[in-house]
Amino acid sequence: MPKTIIVSNRLPVKISNTDNEYQLSPSEGGLATGLGSIYKQDNNVWIGWPGQEVIEETDRDTITSKLQDLSLLPVFLSQEEISQYYEGFSNTVLWPVFHYYASTYATYAQSNWDYYKIVNEKFKDAILKVAEPGDTIWIHDYQLLLLPALVRNEMPDVSIGFFLHIPFPSHEMFRLIPWRYELLEGMLGADLIGFHTFDDVRHFISTTTRILPVNSSSNVITVNDRLVVAEAFPMGIDENKYSSLPKSKEVIEQAKQIKETFKGNKLILSIDRLDYSKGILQRLEAFELLLQLHPEYIGKIALYMIVVPSRDTVPQYKYLRDLIDKKAGSLNSLYRTMDWSPIHYYYRSFPIETLSALYSSADVCLVTPMRDGMNLVSKEYVASRIHDDGVLILSEMAGASKELIDAIIVNPNNIGEVCRAIIQALEMPLDEQKARMQQMRQLISKFNISHWVKIFTDRLREVKQQQRSMQ
Ligand code: UDP
Ligand code: G6P
Repeated sequence: MPKTIIVSNRLPVKISNTDNEYQLSPSEGGLATGLGSIYKQDNNVWIGWPGQEVIEETDRDTITSKLQDLSLLPVFLSQEEISQYYEGFSNTVLWPVFHYYASTYATYAQSNWDYYKIVNEKFKDAILKVAEPGDTIWIHDYQLLLLPALVRNEMPDVSIGFFLHIPFPSHEMFRLIPWRYELLEGMLGADLIGFHTFDDVRHFISTTTRILPVNSSSNVITVNDRLVVAEAFPMGIDENKYSSLPKSKEVIEQAKQIKETFKGNKLILSIDRLDYSKGILQRLEAFELLLQLHPEYIGKIALYMIVVPSRDTVPQYKYLRDLIDKKAGSLNSLYRTMDWSPIHYYYRSFPIETLSALYSSADVCLVTPMRDGMNLVSKEYVASRIHDDGVLILSEMAGASKELIDAIIVNPNNIGEVCRAIIQALEMPLDEQKARMQQMRQLISKFNISHWVKIFTDRLREVKQQQRSMQ
């Protein structure tokens, strides 16, 4: 039976070693959490990096067999590859450029690019070991932009889908990258290229037709007589899981404790990976403005801020962590009273039950990225609001804002606007909360992760048929 091979830089689980034993734990980030709940269907496999360097062959064998039980196939990376391909090219060229931080954070070292090519080849070799004619290969995200063409060269007829989980920038940004031709040619090895929003599709098509000698008509690009389709597929979440968890005994218990701890306070929730694209510092500034301008809220509200450690070996991330620590610390020291703190700041990740208890307890969820491909946290909050109350404040720069139009939509650069949105959320009448939340819950329930997988794979099949009918 033909299978789907999912390929991404990171597997949905990561390894860590304690007491000379390798443990598996869930990976963070939207790609892993989103796809993690559905990949196990049929005889699918997922190829990716298990998140840590493993030197010894015997350790690699142990890990490989542990992962095999979960239909996961590891690609091991050396420290050099991790620092040049992952921290280097992926996260100091592609991530900043694609999130419009080119001038502040991008550096273009040739050796990073060399390793990016080497590691993409390594992933190709891993695919070729398991791929059979008739299989579908679904490649994910910016770390593997060269991979579709590398696989295409080896298996000309195979179905290849590619999905980009981060924004695709405008041509003016993308053209800054010295290796722009190769990156686009790499992506065009796919038959279907998916993005979260229509704007990303538009940017991709206009960038491709300006940079490469290819033609496009609407959302179809012709590459050497082969059709490549680019389309928007806004990613959903496992709605069923997030709306069921708040009814479980464990989550009810944890939510009760949270309510007890914050009684008399309205709870504002913020959850992100530590990343400059998430607007965490600007969010703290908006919260500071609120405390300055509206002292009547002192003692009445609390910001519960989870910052999940991420890419902490990349210098810009380390630096940002210091700035966030300082800002949260200084706000707490300025405004804290004997029995109240404005900010409850955690720099670590939490199990899904705790996240669910927080989602279902928080009066307001504050999601204000400067730029975000989709943002699943906002969708998880909505799905968790099983009583239809609660208010979502959402940045217009997040892909999710195109769907969740009943949130309070803000420009994250406008600190005054975010501050006013927090007040609007805190004061919103219950019937308005419910009217907005019901609309958003319906949407999240309908366009869930299974629906996303289905429409992407159905469309890939159609594109393949269309290509064949033209041969
Ligand atoms: N998340 C997690 N552990 C945590 C906090 C968050 O696994 O302690 C998850 C969260 O539930 C969400 C994902 O990380 O599914 C973040 O995805 P999002 O699309 O919001 O942003 P990304 O990190 O992919 O940029
Ligand atoms: C975003 C990216 C993913 C990535 C995740 C976590 O969601 O789109 O590709 O896996 O962040 O980042 P990390 O660098 O830890 O894999």
